[in-house]
Amino acid sequence: MQIKDKEFELYIKSDEIQKAITKVAQQIENDYQNKDVIFVGVLNGAFMFVSDLLKNIKFDCEISFIKVASYQGTTSTGKVHELIGLVNDIKNKHVIILEDIVDTGLTLNKIYSLIDHDDPSSLEVATLLYKPSAFNGKHPPKYVGIEIPNQFIVGYGLDYLELGRNTEDIYKLKA
Ligand code: IMP
Ligand code: MG
Repeated sequence: MQIKDKEFELYIKSDEIQKAITKVAQQIENDYQNKDVIFVGVLNGAFMFVSDLLKNIKFDCEISFIKVASYQGTTSTGKVHELIGLVNDIKNKHVIILEDIVDTGLTLNKIYSLIDHDDPSSLEVATLLYKPSAFNGKHPPKYVGIEIPNQFIVGYGLDYLELGRNTEDIYKLKA
């Protein structure tokens, strides 16, 4: 698959993604039964993960979104900007942040402290993809779908220069 100047190859197929999501949903269902839960999806990348995960969550829950930006092209800029804040009241609720991918963890540092400031009962992170060798943040994700090495991927919500989000499989940058 070609996106602008870069070539990508098939990396994680849709059925493996869905299997990982089912696993994460089961872990969350076990841990949060009978609790007041609000999921907070991180736009834009997490939109597909949020949609598929929530179809597998059978207890009553709220869902909202937050939008921040840190990436330009294939590298993290290190600076994270808040573009759409959280409007829901999260006091005394159990918040689960939903990320498409945790890379350096810098985005998560910012989102975590923004949400934590509003006094939730608890705050955890679930991510579809995790690059442990790139992680340099304060809040490692509690729920991880698939761990991957430190390489650039697109698809299933993830973009390169805002393109490539609309695929059901995940692709990696060709070496
Ligand atoms: P972090 O702040 O470095 O953890 O980066 C988090 C955000 O960067 C994610 O929510 C993604 O939007 C983006 N990102 C990180 N790694 C990749 C990648 O391999 N492909 C596309 N986007 C990525
Ligand atoms: Mg993102």
